[in-house]
Amino acid sequence: MVNVAILGFGTVGSGVAEVLDVNAEQVAAGAGKDIRLKYIVDIRDFPDSPYQKYMVKDFAVVEGDPDVQIVVETIGGAKIAYEFTKRALLAGKSVVTSNKELVATHGYELLQIAQEKGVSYLFEASVGGGIPIIMPISQCLAANKIDEIYGILNGTTNYILTEMFKNGLPFETALKQAQQNGYAEANPAADVEGHDACRKISILSSLCFGHHVYPDQVPTEGITAVTGDDVELAGRKGYKIKLLGRALTGGDGRVYAYVGPHLVPESNLIAGVEGVMNGIVVRGNAIGSVMFYGAGAGKLPTASAVVSDVIDAAKHIGTGSRMPWGAGGAEYVGDANTLETAWYVRAKGGAAAPQGAEQLGGVNGSEAWLMPKMSRSAAQALTEGMDVQSMFRVLE
Ligand code: HSE
Repeated sequence: MVNVAILGFGTVGSGVAEVLDVNAEQVAAGAGKDIRLKYIVDIRDFPDSPYQKYMVKDFAVVEGDPDVQIVVETIGGAKIAYEFTKRALLAGKSVVTSNKELVATHGYELLQIAQEKGVSYLFEASVGGGIPIIMPISQCLAANKIDEIYGILNGTTNYILTEMFKNGLPFETALKQAQQNGYAEANPAADVEGHDACRKISILSSLCFGHHVYPDQVPTEGITAVTGDDVELAGRKGYKIKLLGRALTGGDGRVYAYVGPHLVPESNLIAGVEGVMNGIVVRGNAIGSVMFYGAGAGKLPTASAVVSDVIDAAKHIGTGSRMPWGAGGAEYVGDANTLETAWYVRAKGGAAAPQGAEQLGGVNGSEAWLMPKMSRSAAQALTEGMDVQSMFRVLE
């Protein structure tokens, strides 16, 4: 018998309680032993919850109970969650989390503590919601040298872009729906401004390339600059606009990672990823390209990934997790703004075409072009003096 405590009874935490309860038989069969929910820690009251009997307010109860072997951290953020995770690991308990901010900012340190204590620190749900991606990269693709990983990593912004531009919903309405469906972060600016995708590509980069990549090493733009005019003009040439996180190795062996809106050709499967779905492409030197697709956010899809980690942790009690990546540092990460791609630029009408650019056409008094492969600074130099409204990278 393995006892579990859940920290934080929000959207994901309540989903974890539900999956452990409803799928108890499958969970026990997967782990080869019974897994029992013993505590839910939250400072709030939930008088109507069917899980009321598990509620405690003080984390010290869990920390001091030697019968709790696995702690599920679904608090979010990198403050209390950081403190409780450290204390749980130091108390010899495995920790499973969906908290991408914590893994992206303190993952290396927490993994090190887990290794020293012989327990697991697992975070399948931190990237891609319910999509299996962390375990497939660290196990099933382990024979590959990975050259590149990119994808739609934020369900809320993909939902907003889809609802605005395919179904004609205003931004605020689409965002409200994403919040009602439990997709959005507590502060949705983290979705809209790209920080959530930044944390996720930081985790994926660390996993794929072997050294911790921190969010402040990843230049990040969100979707606030994407307009209906851009969608219309890009669409005329067969492109969709998607917010992508992307990381690749340069010729110098460093990792180059960034987040930003991209024009994606309709022939690329990523262009067809709509709504709250996420899609992630991994390019390895043996496998070629492989794509992962599924629900990137939401209560039960995310709980599905958390509970599969609970099963994994239960199977490895006594041995714990391996260290999936090493220490980070400036020497491992290059400046992603130097990466060369083609660019889309839209400027207020009347400007001369940037040198070497292909015209896309005009709409509502502005004109757009596709510029050939170059770095961000070269693209900015070429459009200097133009009244630039938007400038996005183009995925090949
Ligand atoms: N806010 C996140 C998203 C939740 O929309 O993708 C899942 O990490």
